[in-house]
Amino acid sequence: MLILNKKSDLSAFLSPLSHQNKSIGFVPTMGALHDGHLSLLKKSLEENDVTVMSIFVNPTQFNNANDLEKYPRTLEEDVKKMGKISDSIIVYAPSVSDIYEGNTVSESFEYDGLEHQMEGQHRPGHFDGVGTIVKRLFEIIKPTTAYFGEKDFQQLQIVKKLVALYVIPVEIIGCPIFREANGLAMSSRNERLSENARKKAASIFEILQQAKLKFEKQSVSETIQFVKKEFEKHPEFELEYFEIADETTLLSTEVKEPNKKYRGFIAVFIEKIRLIDNISLN
Ligand code: PAF
Repeated sequence: MLILNKKSDLSAFLSPLSHQNKSIGFVPTMGALHDGHLSLLKKSLEENDVTVMSIFVNPTQFNNANDLEKYPRTLEEDVKKMGKISDSIIVYAPSVSDIYEGNTVSESFEYDGLEHQMEGQHRPGHFDGVGTIVKRLFEIIKPTTAYFGEKDFQQLQIVKKLVALYVIPVEIIGCPIFREANGLAMSSRNERLSENARKKAASIFEILQQAKLKFEKQSVSETIQFVKKEFEKHPEFELEYFEIADETTLLSTEVKEPNKKYRGFIAVFIEKIRLIDNISLN
């Protein structure tokens, strides 16, 4: 395994491979790797000549200083986990200055309105930070294919839009959500939950699955009311939002239209830790 901290070293390593037309698979992460990340890594290893994984806790996508400070940083363990899968992974673990060169600010992006919904509304500036880092990583690594998890479904749609708007020659692959045995969507933030909260957080996916059943027979507003009521029964949670939105535009809907794909999107706090999840509804 090759671990590089400088973009100049990474570019020097990758550029001859690009010239030889080798396919470069890329898995961007903020570390604290779990099986969801590892599934992306395995897919990239299967499908490409070379696989790069970045581990970088990107400061510009955090709108909450406490969340940034508490974000788990576990590079040594992450490297061990990768080593169990393959010793040919290229790890890029840069410092903030290697990426931002003394100017740790986001560029501004418009993603045809995708940025105004859900996470964009509740985490101002978040998608500017995501766009900034993803675009820079694409410029440095020049991957042929990049892999993103569907847990951050809005992020996935935004990255696809970014690539289209900036005509970046990379294929974006969305991969299914990985869940813990109790259904909780895997997330690096789960590390910060107490054992008890981690058990209780299973309710998030249980309620989403029930919402899917409701949605088959009932209206959008009835389904939303159902979810809100269910969370009222669980005072340990603070529901930030549950929205039903068109999968492509991410616009919330009040009516079901034929031939449209809908998804339920949720953000909840438990023990002051913010968890997100989503489910395909039809
Ligand atoms: O999904 C994440 O972990 C991050 O948002 C990403 C894509 C690595 C950018 O920092």
